[in-house]
Amino acid sequence: MYQLRLSAMRSLVTAAILATASMPSAADSQEIGDAKRGYDFAAQHCAECHAIDFGNPKSPNADAPSFTSVAQTSGMSGRALAVWLDTTHPTMPNFVLHADDRDDVIAYIMSLKNRPPPK
Ligand code: HEC
Repeated sequence: MYQLRLSAMRSLVTAAILATASMPSAADSQEIGDAKRGYDFAAQHCAECHAIDFGNPKSPNADAPSFTSVAQTSGMSGRALAVWLDTTHPTMPNFVLHADDRDDVIAYIMSLKNRPPPK
């Protein structure tokens, strides 16, 4: 019984170590959020105004910049987007994103930054 518990404990510890070991690399590359989930979220919540697909310059709402142009604005960073999204979106009063959704959508927008320009 004791043996059994000990080995169960060991595998828990091992799992914890593995989980932690994979974290520094994520932090190093500053990849917060999940771009795929961010895309799905944007498709539901942002696409009515913003062109969200890479290389699409035409937003449904002419005043809303395409996500590609947002990402490729020089000096644009995940941090700058987070600040923007945490302050009130000018055309959308009380539009405040849940932190997880915000990080995902930022990851998606930033993923558009370094792709080659559309042909
Ligand atoms: C109802 C229309 C609408 C929706 C929905 C909308 N936006 Fe916007 N957004 C705009 C408009 C219009 C602007 C330009 C406002 C301005 O510059 O003052 C803008 C500006 C922005 C900017 C700033 C771009 C820049 O560089 O100045 C970001 C970032 C942004 N939106 C992200 C989002 C995200 C993320 C979502 C979805 C979670 C979203 N928006 C949903 C209309 C919308």
